[in-house]
Amino acid sequence: MCAQLIDFTSTPKGGAEFQARISRARDILDHGGLVATPTETVYGLCADAKNDEAVAKIYTAKGRPSFNPLIAHVSDMEMAHSLVDLSPMAHKLAAAFWPGPLTIVAPGRDTAQISPLARAGLSTLAVRLPAHPIMRALISSLGRALVAPSANRSGSLSPTTAEAVMEGLGAHIDAIIDAGPCEVGVESTIIKVAADQVTLLRPGGVSREQIETLTGSALSAREQAKIEAPGMLASHYAPRAPLRLNRDHAAPGEAFLDFAGSIADTDQPAAYLDLSPSGNLAEAATNLFSYLRQLDILCQRDNLRGIAAAPIPGDAIGEAINDRLARAAAPRND
Ligand code: TXA
Ligand code: MG
Repeated sequence: MCAQLIDFTSTPKGGAEFQARISRARDILDHGGLVATPTETVYGLCADAKNDEAVAKIYTAKGRPSFNPLIAHVSDMEMAHSLVDLSPMAHKLAAAFWPGPLTIVAPGRDTAQISPLARAGLSTLAVRLPAHPIMRALISSLGRALVAPSANRSGSLSPTTAEAVMEGLGAHIDAIIDAGPCEVGVESTIIKVAADQVTLLRPGGVSREQIETLTGSALSAREQAKIEAPGMLASHYAPRAPLRLNRDHAAPGEAFLDFAGSIADTDQPAAYLDLSPSGNLAEAATNLFSYLRQLDILCQRDNLRGIAAAPIPGDAIGEAINDRLARAAAPRND
C-alpha cells in the first residue's frame, strides 16, 4: 500500500473543490481507513474514534504500545461535552484556548463514541478542539470525533509536513492530506483537570504562563513515578543521529542546530541550521522538528557523527522546545 495524497495546498477554503476533497478524506475514515491530516501543531494520524478496527490500525501503523491512549479531536464544544465531564475550571480553560493547541484530560463519559482501545483502560479521556480549518472540516463532515496521535512511527520525530508523514508512514496508511507546513510546530500542551486542580502533563503550544495567568495559580507538577502520558517516556521524538544539547560550538564532523545566531563566526560545522536567527521562540518551535529531521538526513547521507544544539531560553513555548530536545537527546529505549 502507498498512501494517496489529497492536495489542499492550492485549494481555497469553502469552495466546491475544498468540500469535494474533505468528502473524499471523510469517506476513507467512514470506511475504517487511516488519513494523516494537518493540525496547527503537527500532522495527526486520524481514525474514526468509535471504530475498533480503525483504532487498532493506528497502533499497528505507528508501532505504538497499546497502553498509550489517544487524544479525541472534536469540532465543537457540544461534541467535547458528549465525551468528557468538564469541571468549571476545565470549561474556563477550554473557553480561553479552544480552538487551539491545548489538550484537556478529564473524566470520560461512558460513551460508545470512543473505542475502548483508544482509552487504554483509563477512566479519563484526552480531548482537543484543534484550530486547523481542514481538521475541523473533516471532523464536522464525519459528525463524530477522530482520534489522532502524531503521524510518525512511535518514538521518532513528529511530522510537520506531508512529506515527513509520507516518509515515515506512507506504506502503512490510506491517505495523506497535504496542506503545507504546520504553524505551531510542537504538539499541544496536555493538562489534566480534576475539579480546580490543573496538572501539566506535557508542555506544548500553549505556554505555562498563558495557563497560569488564566487560572491565577501555579500549575501542579505531575507525579514523577507515574507515567500518565507515555509521550513522556524519556526517549521520544528522537532523530537517528545522536544529539548533544546546550553547546556553543560543534565538534569536528558534527552538525549544529543554532538559535539566534549564537555560534562563533570562526566555527564551521559540517551542517548548519538556525531555528530562528532573530531569536523568536515561536519561529523556533515551528522549525524544530523539520530542522532536526533535515540535519538527521544530512548526518545519514554524509556520515556525520551527530547533532549539537545551542541553548534555547525556557520561557513561553521555549519550555516545550526544551522538553522535546531533552527527549530527543535521552538514551534510547531500543
Ligand atoms: O498536538 C497534538 O496533541 C497532536 C495532534 C495530532 O493533535 N497529537 C499528539 O498525540 O501529540 P500523541 O498521541 O502523539 O500524544 C498524545 C499524548 C500521549 O503521550 C498520550 O500518552 C497522552 O497524550 N494521553 C492521551 N490520553 C491520555 C489520558 N487519558 N491521560 C493522560 N495522558 C494521555
Ligand atoms: Mg506523538
